[in-house]
Amino acid sequence: MIQSTPTFESPTAATHKTPDFVLKTRDDIRDSLQASSSHHRNNLLKECVKAAAKNSDFERYITAPKPGAYDRAIIYTDPAFYFSLMMLTWAPGAKTPIHGHNSYGFVGICSGKIAVECFERVNLGDSQFSIVPNYSCISNAGDVADAHSGAEGIHRLSNPTTRQAVSLHLYRMDLSEDPAAINDVYEERRLSSL
Ligand SMILES: [Fe+2]
Repeated sequence: MIQSTPTFESPTAATHKTPDFVLKTRDDIRDSLQASSSHHRNNLLKECVKAAAKNSDFERYITAPKPGAYDRAIIYTDPAFYFSLMMLTWAPGAKTPIHGHNSYGFVGICSGKIAVECFERVNLGDSQFSIVPNYSCISNAGDVADAHSGAEGIHRLSNPTTRQAVSLHLYRMDLSEDPAAINDVYEERRLSSL
């Protein structure tokens, strides 16, 4: 979901075999996507993310970001079912820009704490708008949050603690070409609209 320090090379490059525990999660996600209603589907997908976030097998995707930064590691992308799974490792003080997403998803906290700030887009006319804070909370290990698409889901994540944090992200996009394609960075858009 996030810009900043995409320095990590995907461990699912063609020369690597996808681990069985990733394939199991992939199959669970594919099954969940067959649900008869979006409400049921979302509940099932949340359970998939929750289970994966507490599965220590996924810890191999934890990276070592630079001080104050975060790294994004693509775990799996599924061009057929159109979803991607990635892990973010957050150094103390790491923070995303204010952004929205180009598709929906779910964020599970594996370890540490992540601050979530949500914003509302207020249209001012003539293509101008303002971004107004409207909610904030701290997500702890085991929590899974919805990441809504479009203006409904404008947010910023950060690690406000002195310890590393790790999060697992499921997005309903094939991000194999560009992991940052999920993001719609409002700080950049706002600048470009002025
Ligand atoms: Fe995000």
